[in-house]
Amino acid sequence: MRLDLYGLEKWFGGQAAVQGITETISDFQALAIIGPSGGGKTTLLRLIAGLEIPDRGGLAIDGEQLDFSREVLLRHRQRIGMVFQAYNLFPHLSALANITLPLEKVHGYAPAAAREHAMALLERFQLSPHASKKPAELSGGQQQRVAIVRAIAIKPRFLLFDEPTSALDPEMTAEVLEIIEELRREGRDLIMATHQIGFARRVADYCLFVSEGAVAEAGPASELFSRPRTAALQNFLAKVLKY
Ligand SMILES: Nc1ncnc2c1ncn2[C@@H]1O[C@H](COP(=O)(O)OP(=O)(O)O)[C@@H](O)[C@H]1O
Ligand SMILES: [Mg+2]
Repeated sequence: MRLDLYGLEKWFGGQAAVQGITETISDFQALAIIGPSGGGKTTLLRLIAGLEIPDRGGLAIDGEQLDFSREVLLRHRQRIGMVFQAYNLFPHLSALANITLPLEKVHGYAPAAAREHAMALLERFQLSPHASKKPAELSGGQQQRVAIVRAIAIKPRFLLFDEPTSALDPEMTAEVLEIIEELRREGRDLIMATHQIGFARRVADYCLFVSEGAVAEAGPASELFSRPRTAALQNFLAKVLKY
């Protein structure tokens, strides 16, 4: 896919969360966004998802300029599969109902068709034994896998992940990263903010290093990780790779 960001700016109160990001990524399949906490990764993802409206600038996806009118934004959000850090699922609904509810309410599926589609996906990701469990009865890794299944169930244009494993222990992190890698192999387009540098390096083909609301370094992931140019990225990688 292609992503064009131009002069993107987003302020909260008197503080810029994203300030003047201009970047063209003309052809990627998996984009990783890395960088220190508070640097602006989530805000950038939310802007791409149409969950935030920029104070300045704009963006285009596959050459199509995103119009920030209410109706266009609603439609845009419905076409993106999103997975956040944690607490993605509705706590009062079973895993199955978490997937079928948006299919029925937002995407116009009849109940039986929603159920059939959701069960097939749960089966595919070895989650069918958990279909009737509520989130509290699932491990963190299982919850995130259900959240990922829910995101792909809507047949999204692309998937967006915001640190999907940061609330998980290492074993659960692995099972979630494996699914993401599988989706990548299937040829799905992904944009992900992650602290998993090894994972980003393996899966991403392009990477943005976002710090203090700006893109401090950008390039093909293979180059960015093996030959970081800026001191800021060198320091960041040294810190996160140390432990
Ligand atoms: N809804 C919000 N209200 C106020 N400040 C926010 C909000 N969202 C983000 N920020 C601020 O914007 C900056 C960037 O945050 P964020 O995009 O969450 O960074 P990251 O995801 O890289 O940790 C931080 O200083 C954060 O406190
Ligand atoms: Mg964040």
